[in-house]
Amino acid sequence: MAKSIMDYPTVDFDRENNKLVIIDQTKLPETIEMLRLDKQEDIFEAIYLLKVRGAPAIGVAAAYGVYLASREIDAVDYDEFFAEFKKKKDYLASSRPTAVNLFWALNRMEASIADRRDKTPDELRELLRAEAIAIHEEDIWMCKSIGEYGLTLIKDGDGILTHCNAGQLATSKYGTALAPIHLGVERGMQFKVFTDETRPLLQGARLSSFELHEHGVDTTVICDNMASIVMKNGWVQACFVGCDRIAANGDAANKIGTSGVAILAKHYGIPFYVLGPTSTIDMSIATGDEIPIEQRPGEEVTEMWYKLRMAPRGVKVYNPAFDVTDHELISAIVTEYGIARPPYSESLKEIFKKKAQARQGDLGK
Ligand code: MRU
Repeated sequence: MAKSIMDYPTVDFDRENNKLVIIDQTKLPETIEMLRLDKQEDIFEAIYLLKVRGAPAIGVAAAYGVYLASREIDAVDYDEFFAEFKKKKDYLASSRPTAVNLFWALNRMEASIADRRDKTPDELRELLRAEAIAIHEEDIWMCKSIGEYGLTLIKDGDGILTHCNAGQLATSKYGTALAPIHLGVERGMQFKVFTDETRPLLQGARLSSFELHEHGVDTTVICDNMASIVMKNGWVQACFVGCDRIAANGDAANKIGTSGVAILAKHYGIPFYVLGPTSTIDMSIATGDEIPIEQRPGEEVTEMWYKLRMAPRGVKVYNPAFDVTDHELISAIVTEYGIARPPYSESLKEIFKKKAQARQGDLGK
């Protein structure tokens, strides 16, 4: 049988040759090209240019990235090694500002070697390697778990609208927002999925529709401004979107245009669900106003996907990559530890309690 995009790992690690392996997502859907990277500059560029993208995948890539970068450190003792490691970590952390998974993963990498003065530089590198692999493996588990919880919110035959790509191409496997759909399809269920094309970088048209279509899901691409009509037609029973950072009150940053979908869904009485791992929840910020929004080059809007330029030279362009959906518009937040419902200031704390209990249980084994 021909290989499908679902058979390729979005982000992987060649343990034998120490390479980060990613699909170059800027070439999809026409060309599937794998990149094998080990230089920190190349990994930085891959994240910045969205060759690897989606909050969880960025976290995994950065974890392997900082481990690979640590192999370039020439240090004789712990202090020297740790100081160099911090520089490399800060460098990779500056690749994209909104998805908190990037900082979460890099902080976990730092914590794995913090105060390990008893270790040689080679032993520290081994600890980093093991932590990156752990982050990667947990990502696969958490997607599956989000998928299972998400599946309880829909039924066979439902129409689902999604924005951007929070599927397998944004994570290590299955995705977050698309995980319930992939899992359901594997169990013989059928859904009708509408993928917003997601201007300006077209993650919905190029990526979501590609992975869903290849996985046998009934998929229809719509321009972003068509979401209202498909909702009005009664074709959408739920909206599933991913997230890049969720504040303690449930405000959720995701790809630009997500908040507009949520406003439309409220108008038409359609439940709007945000699906993401706890690594995307930033309890250190009270509301979405504190989430930094990435601004990207204007060329992405005016010419990047066109044969000819589609706006006059010199015209001003506003190109925020994300927006924040107000928590009042969100019906539920689906995590790997369960489904949080409003009020999120309470329910998200409960999710973290469940996570701590699960970790405690694991440690007790
Ligand atoms: O700019 P991108 O393509 O990295 O943006 C991706 C999104 O907004 C996703 O919805 C989000 O990261 C969740 S991915 C599981």
